[in-house]
Amino acid sequence: MSYLNIAIDGPAGSGKSTIAKHIANKMGILYLDTGAMYRAMALKMLRCGIDIADTAAVLKELPNTEVFAENQNGTQITYLDGEDVSSLIRTPEVSKGASDIAVIPEVRIKLVALQRNIAEKSDVVMDGRDIGSYVIPQTANKFFVTASPLERAKRRLKELNEKGLSLDKTLEQMRDEIVARDKVDSSRSFAPLTQTEDAVFVDTTDMTIDEAVSYVMERIKK
Ligand code: DC
Repeated sequence: MSYLNIAIDGPAGSGKSTIAKHIANKMGILYLDTGAMYRAMALKMLRCGIDIADTAAVLKELPNTEVFAENQNGTQITYLDGEDVSSLIRTPEVSKGASDIAVIPEVRIKLVALQRNIAEKSDVVMDGRDIGSYVIPQTANKFFVTASPLERAKRRLKELNEKGLSLDKTLEQMRDEIVARDKVDSSRSFAPLTQTEDAVFVDTTDMTIDEAVSYVMERIKK
């Protein structure tokens, strides 16, 4: 039996997670936020005092690191070594760490195996950077979601403020951080952020959430 697998890729703040969650909800299928898995990995290294640039040290800790994600009432709970770390992985420090750790092929291979396992067993909407290009390239449902860097920075600041993680950052600083993270994500050699030729391009800069969700929903091939 084959399952409905929907890949939604794009850079930070593009709206891909919001779209993916809405679609999963509307269709009554699973949602998997793969970025949260890289974030949990980064948190582990930060907690262990490991410099993520020190690949050898990260690789040494990798076998002792278990990341797991499950859906509870439509919300993803992300576990690190059995602990629910969902509320601890949205800080700027972890964001930067996740982008840096995602460069390491062994880290990706470990997390991609978990993601593929979920796709083989369930209907799922996955969001990330390499879902359509690497994790489930066989799917007919690929979307590449983006928005202008300034708009993405505005969304990230709003999201962080709403979570009570108020930052002493200007919009321009936030935009520059986002652009720097895009660069790391799209220039790594192993499974970088990329738009595949068969992905539907969605620019959400001037779209409301409802418009973006409808746009994607209309293009899903069942
Ligand atoms: O989607 P996010 O901002 O939570 O992702 C955090 C980081 O994880 C992102 O900067 C790059 C990495 N990532 C990745 O390399 N591949 C994925 N499929 C998802 C995230």
